[in-house]
Amino acid sequence: MIKKIIVGQSGGPTAVINSSIAGVYKKAKELGVETVYGMVYGIEGFLKENIIDLDDYFKDNDNYELLKRTPSAFLGSCRFKLPKFEDDQAVYEKIFEILDKYEIDALFYTGGNDSMDTIKMLADYAALNNKRQLFMGVPKTIDNDLPITDHCPGYGSAIKYVATSIKEVIRDNASFGINKPTVLIVEIMGRHAGWLTCGAALAKGNDCEGVDAIYLPEEDFDMDEFKARVNNLVATKKSVVIAISEGIHDKDGKFICEYGDSDRAVDAFGHKQLSGSAVTLANIINKETGLKTRAIELSTLQRAATHIASLTDIEEAEGSGAAAVQAVFEGKTGMMATIMRVNNNPYTVNYEVYDIHNIANVEKKVPIEWIDSQNKQMKQEYLDYARPLIMGELTPIYENGLPKHIVRK
Ligand code: F6P
Repeated sequence: MIKKIIVGQSGGPTAVINSSIAGVYKKAKELGVETVYGMVYGIEGFLKENIIDLDDYFKDNDNYELLKRTPSAFLGSCRFKLPKFEDDQAVYEKIFEILDKYEIDALFYTGGNDSMDTIKMLADYAALNNKRQLFMGVPKTIDNDLPITDHCPGYGSAIKYVATSIKEVIRDNASFGINKPTVLIVEIMGRHAGWLTCGAALAKGNDCEGVDAIYLPEEDFDMDEFKARVNNLVATKKSVVIAISEGIHDKDGKFICEYGDSDRAVDAFGHKQLSGSAVTLANIINKETGLKTRAIELSTLQRAATHIASLTDIEEAEGSGAAAVQAVFEGKTGMMATIMRVNNNPYTVNYEVYDIHNIANVEKKVPIEWIDSQNKQMKQEYLDYARPLIMGELTPIYENGLPKHIVRK
C-alpha cells in the first residue's frame, strides 16, 4: 500500500518542471496517497532532511494552477552525483534511514540523464539490500537528450521560446536594409546534443524568412566553412541571423567557446560550462571582416520562459508525473515515465514506463539524417517531429502587469 511518497527536482530547470510535480501530486491524491512530500534542493537537500508537505501549498487549487505557470524548480534543484556503493555506503544508509523515518513508500525524481542516475542507483541499492521503497524517474530536460522517450517535457516550451525570440530578432535585424548587414549569432543551450538549437528552424514561415544557418554539436564545426558562409551571406542579404549550439566543437573536440577562454568550470557530473561560443564567433567575424556583429546568448531565458510555455508540453509534463505515480501503484520500480508518440496528425501520445538502466547517463543525439549539412538547415522530418510539441498556450495569471508565480516560503 502506497501511503506516503516524496518528489524531488534535479538538474537545470525547465519552464514546465513544476507541471511534473503538479502531475505527481494530483495523481497521488486521486489514488488516495495521504502525504506527498517534496524534497527541497533535490537529493542533496533530502540528505539534510530538507522536506516539506506539498499539501501546505497545493490543496488550494489556485496555487496548483499557479504552480503550472511558475518557472524554475519550485522545490529547488541540485546537481549531485550519488557515489558508487563501494565508495560511500554511508550516503545510501542515510537516504534509506530518512525514507524509513518519514515512512516514505516511493520516491519520484524529475530530471535529465544525470538525474536518472540517482533513480538507478537508489533502485539498485534497494534491490541489493531488500529495501521496500520504490523509485521512479519523471523525465525533464530542455536538452531533449533522454533516450527511449519520444521527447522530454521542457523541450517543447524551450523551442517555442527559441523560435519566437529568433522570429523577433530576425525582424529587428532586417530593419536596417541600406547599410551592410549586422551578423547576429544566437547561442542556444543543449550541451552535446543539438535538439534545442534545431528549434531555431521553426521560426521560418509565411511571415519569416528563417535563420540563415544552424550549427549543431552533432557535426564538427569548421571555422573556414563558417567564415566563407558568412561572407557569402553578407554579399547577398540585408540581414544575417545564425543559430549555434553552445556545444559546437571542432574536429579535435575543442569547444568553440574555449577558443575565447579555455578555463572552464566543471559541474558534479563532469560537464564543462559551455557558454560563450556566440561571443567568440561574433568577435572573430567582426575582427576579420569589419562587419557589425552581435552575439545573443539565450542562456537561462530559454528554460525559464513559462510565460510562453507550450500547453502541450505542460500537459505532457503533468501526464508523465501521473504515469510515474500510476506505475508505482502497479508495483514498478527502477523505471522512468516515457512519452510515446502514437500519431502525428492528429498528434497523440501514450505514457509508458521504461527500465532506467537503459536511460540513465545515455545521451540521445539529433539524427544525422534530419540535418541538411550542405545548407546548414533542418530537414522536414525535424519540423514534423517538433511542430506538435510547441502547440497551445496557457495564459499566465497577471498581477501588477506581470505574470504571477508561486514561491516556496
Ligand atoms: O541540462 C540543462 C542545461 O540547461 C543545459 O542545456 C546547459 O548546458 C546546462 O543545463 C547549464 O547548466 P547550469 O545552469 O548549471 O549552468
